[in-house]
Amino acid sequence: TTVVVNGTASHAIPSTLYGQMFEDINGGDGGLYAELLQNRAFQQVTPGDATALYAWAAVNGGNITVIADSDPVSSALPNSLQLTIPSGASGSVGFGNEGYYGINVNSSWTYNASFYYRFPEASDFSGDATVALQSASGEVYASAQIPISGSQTTWTQVYAQLTPSTSPSSTANNFTVTFNSSAAGNTINFAMFSLFPPTFKNRANGMRIDVAEARYIALLTLQILLMRPSFFRLPGGNNLEGQSAATRWIWNNTVGALVDRPGRVGDWGYINTDGLGLLEYLYWCEDMEMEPFMAVWAGYSLDGTSLPEDELAPYIQAAIDQINFVIGDPSDSSAAALRASLGREEPFSLTYVEVGNEDFFASESYIYRWRDFAGNLTAAFPQLKFIATAYPFNPILDPTPQQYDNHVYQTPDWFAENSFYYDDFERNGTYYFQGEYAVTSTNASDLYGTTADGRLMYPTIQGSIGEAAYMTGFERNADIVFAASYAPLLMNVADGAYQWTPNLVEFDAANAYKSTSFYVQQLFSLNRGTEYLPSTLPDPSGTVFWSVTSDSSTLAIKLVNYANTTEDVTFQLPFAVSSSATVTVLTGDPTASNTPTNPNLVTPTTTAVTIAQAFNYTAPAYSLSVLNIELS
Ligand code: AHR
Repeated sequence: TTVVVNGTASHAIPSTLYGQMFEDINGGDGGLYAELLQNRAFQQVTPGDATALYAWAAVNGGNITVIADSDPVSSALPNSLQLTIPSGASGSVGFGNEGYYGINVNSSWTYNASFYYRFPEASDFSGDATVALQSASGEVYASAQIPISGSQTTWTQVYAQLTPSTSPSSTANNFTVTFNSSAAGNTINFAMFSLFPPTFKNRANGMRIDVAEARYIALLTLQILLMRPSFFRLPGGNNLEGQSAATRWIWNNTVGALVDRPGRVGDWGYINTDGLGLLEYLYWCEDMEMEPFMAVWAGYSLDGTSLPEDELAPYIQAAIDQINFVIGDPSDSSAAALRASLGREEPFSLTYVEVGNEDFFASESYIYRWRDFAGNLTAAFPQLKFIATAYPFNPILDPTPQQYDNHVYQTPDWFAENSFYYDDFERNGTYYFQGEYAVTSTNASDLYGTTADGRLMYPTIQGSIGEAAYMTGFERNADIVFAASYAPLLMNVADGAYQWTPNLVEFDAANAYKSTSFYVQQLFSLNRGTEYLPSTLPDPSGTVFWSVTSDSSTLAIKLVNYANTTEDVTFQLPFAVSSSATVTVLTGDPTASNTPTNPNLVTPTTTAVTIAQAFNYTAPAYSLSVLNIELS
C-alpha cells in the first residue's frame, strides 16, 4: 500500500471531536460519584419491606427497619432507618453498610462521615454513637465518637472524620454505627447517611479521585482525564428518558441540598441517588475542561409512550428552565437565580443541547416533539446548537436540524467495513455527532445477546481495531462530524453491579482497568491534530485504513490494520520531516481483552523510528499505529 499525503489541509479538526458519553449505567452511583454508602437515604424503597434495607445489616442484635417517618428529614426523603437497641443488649449494637460492592479503606485518606438522627420519643440517653470502618469480621480500621442526645427529637445532622490506621487489601469492609449498653432500650431514627473519601479537586459531593498510591488506585477520574475528552454528554442515554414520563430524569430534582433530592428509579434497574446531579456534572465538566453536551427530556419515555402535542408545554418550560439553570441570568430567570443561590452566580459554558435520546424509536411523534421543543428552545436560546436524535432526514423535521446524534452498536467487521460511513453524506450544512458507538458482539444477528452468543464482556483487540478503522472516517469527515464518543464509559465489574457490556473503563471498589478500546480512544484523542491532510484514499472494502492530521509543527499518522497479517505501507509526505519519529502501537491477539484479572494484557508500546519524507512502515496484524512526526 502506498499513501501519498497532500500538504494542503482540506478541513480543520473540530476541537470537540473526541469526548465521552456518560449516563448512570454500570457506574455513576458507586462509581464516578464518590459517595461510598449504598442506599444512603432509603430513596424510592418501600418502607417495612426487607429489600428496603439493601446494603444495610444489623450489628450484634440491633433491630433495624426502614420506616415511613411521621416527621421525615425532608419531604424528598420520607423514609428513615429506625434502630431499636434491645433492653439488656450488651456490646456494640447497631448497623452497618457494605458500600457499593465493598468499601476501599485507605490509610492515606480522611473520610467524611455524616448522618441525621432524631429520637421519635424523648429519652434520657446521653452517650456516643461509634462510627467506624471495619472488616467483615469486625477488625476496626478507623473509628470516631459522635455525641448523641436522647432529648433530640427533631432532626440534626452530625459529622465525624475517619482516618484508617491501615490499608487492608480487601474491600469487603463495612461502615458501622454502633452504641454501647448504655443505649439499651432506646429507639433512634436515622436519615441521609454519607461517607466520602477525598474527591477530585476536593469538591464537596464530588467525584472519585485519581490518587495513585500503591495498589489503592481509585483511578476513575484519571482514566477519563487520560483520554483528554473535549466534551461530556450527560445525563443519558436511556437514563434521561424514564421507563415512564413520571420517572424521567428531572433536572430540578437533582440540584440543591442532598436531603431535597428524592432520587429516582433509573432506567437501568437500580435507584439513582441523584447525588450526581446537574450542578455536580457542570462543575465536573469545568474541572475536567470538558464542554457539557446536555440533553433535555423531549416527551418520549422508554415504555414507548410519546406525550401528545397538547401536553408538551410544561416539559418545554422545564427544558427552558434547565438551560437557564446552566446559562441564564439570575436577574431574569428563577432557574438561574436558583443556581446563584447554590453558590454559582456566573453562567456555565454551554453550546450543544440534545433534544431527547434515540428518538428514532418514536420518529413519528418526534416530528411534532422536535418542532415544539427545538422550535421554542431555538427561539429562547438562539445562541445554542440543538442536536436531533432521529435518523438523519428520516423523517423530515422542521426546523431543519443542524446537528444529528447518530448511534451504532455493531460487530468488529461492521466497523471495519464502514469506515467510509460518513464519506457519502451530503455537505448541506448539517453536522453529525457520533454520540454512541462500540463493538458489542461478534454476532451480527445477536448484537445485544449473551456472551455465549458472541456478546463481548470486555472490548477485544479485534473490536477495538475495528472501532479504530471506523474512527479514521471521523477524521476524514471532520468537516461534518463534529464530535464522537464511545459508549458506555464505565463498568463496575462486581457481580450484579453492571447492566451492559462491554465498556471503556472497568473498575471495582479499589481499582480501575483500561480496556483495549480505552487505548484506541486515548490514542485518537491525544493525537487528533488541528487540521486534516488529505491522502490517498484507503480501499473502503479493504483492511487497512489511515488518517493524517497536523498541527503547527507535527504530523500524526493513524494507521489501522484490520487483518491477521502484517501490512507494508509506504508513506510519501508533503514536507521535509525530522528523521526521528515515534510510533505507538496497540496490537495483540484478536480475541485478547484487558480484564480485571489480567488488566495489562495489551498496552500500547512507543518506540523511536527513523523516517524520511518517504518511508516504509510495517503495520502488525490487528493493530493501530500512531506515528508522531516532527516537521523539520
Ligand atoms: O449506551 C447504552 C445505551 O445504548 C444508551 O443508554 C442508549 O442511548 C443506547 O441505546
